[in-house]
Amino acid sequence: MKKILFFGGKGGVGKTTSSCSCAYYFSNNNLKTLLISTDPAHSVGDLLNVKLDSSIKKIKENLYGLEIDPQTERDKYINRIKSNISKTISPVILKEIQRQLDAASISPGSEESAIFDKLIEIIIEESNNFDRIVFDTAPTGHTLRLMSLPELLESWLETLIKKRKKALKLNNMASNLEKKDIDDPIINILQKRKDKLIKARTILIDNNLASFVFVLNPEKLPILETKKSIEIMKKYNMNIENIVINKILPKDSNSDFLNKRREIQDKYLDEIEVTFKNINLIKIPLLDRDIDSEYIKEISNYFSF
Ligand SMILES: Nc1ncnc2c1ncn2[C@@H]1O[C@H](COP(=O)(O)OP(=O)(O)OP(=O)(O)O)[C@@H](O)[C@H]1O
Ligand SMILES: [Mg+2]
Repeated sequence: MKKILFFGGKGGVGKTTSSCSCAYYFSNNNLKTLLISTDPAHSVGDLLNVKLDSSIKKIKENLYGLEIDPQTERDKYINRIKSNISKTISPVILKEIQRQLDAASISPGSEESAIFDKLIEIIIEESNNFDRIVFDTAPTGHTLRLMSLPELLESWLETLIKKRKKALKLNNMASNLEKKDIDDPIINILQKRKDKLIKARTILIDNNLASFVFVLNPEKLPILETKKSIEIMKKYNMNIENIVINKILPKDSNSDFLNKRREIQDKYLDEIEVTFKNINLIKIPLLDRDIDSEYIKEISNYFSF
């Protein structure tokens, strides 16, 4: 069993329900667990009836929770970059850069990179304090982007570093300066970020610490999307050892309608068994009411690793 689990999948399939139940399962088995929500909708706190925020709170014996607020993290992230840069750049250029950073802060992707920064910080700081770290993520697209960020950002940072080095070299040549080792504050900042991303990848993939759990319902589209997502994750060498099949209808009910739906589900359940044959399948029935903290305990019994 991997130490860090990310729960992902299409909207509404049961990611929050499953990640909370799984965290309950771990904590009930004497594993000190940290449950983290990276979903802007923040339903972990609502579901467990606890008020969570950016600091770690105890939920129950062996279970702790934390919510990452994308907007707050994004603002902190941009301010951190601003203050780093202000120490190193002349005031005239600084104003322009700050203007560009403000524009960047509302551009797509800035929240994801801020969440990713926070996520890595938590993993680096907390992985020794917990036996398990469980992440509830937002719907698939967003999560996949989060996972591919280290690679994307790394190559982007590498390009920036190269450009900066080239500019400095030209500058030095123009002013006849002999400088073998470039000690440039901007390069240092970029290099530091790159190192952090490499560390993130090492933790997530190379050390074999993390695994991704896909949640789906026995229906056509979630199966197709999960198949596609798993292919993408494999490209990034991410581990996928478990799939949660949620909202499975009861068998042999008194209702023809339900029986008919269950027949359709059976076909998809078979398809799931075949399509994901090397992956552990965790099956959760559709319960007869909305999920609350009592039901989370019940659903946690369906988990076994
Ligand atoms: N096994 C189940 N039985 C009955 N209702 C369920 C079950 N699993 C989830 N639900 C209900 O389905 C809805 C969606 O569940 P949940 O919030 O866990 O999904 P999600 O994938 O996290 O959604 P989102 O993509 O919006 O974050 C909720 O109303 C929840 O109560
Ligand atoms: Mg959710």
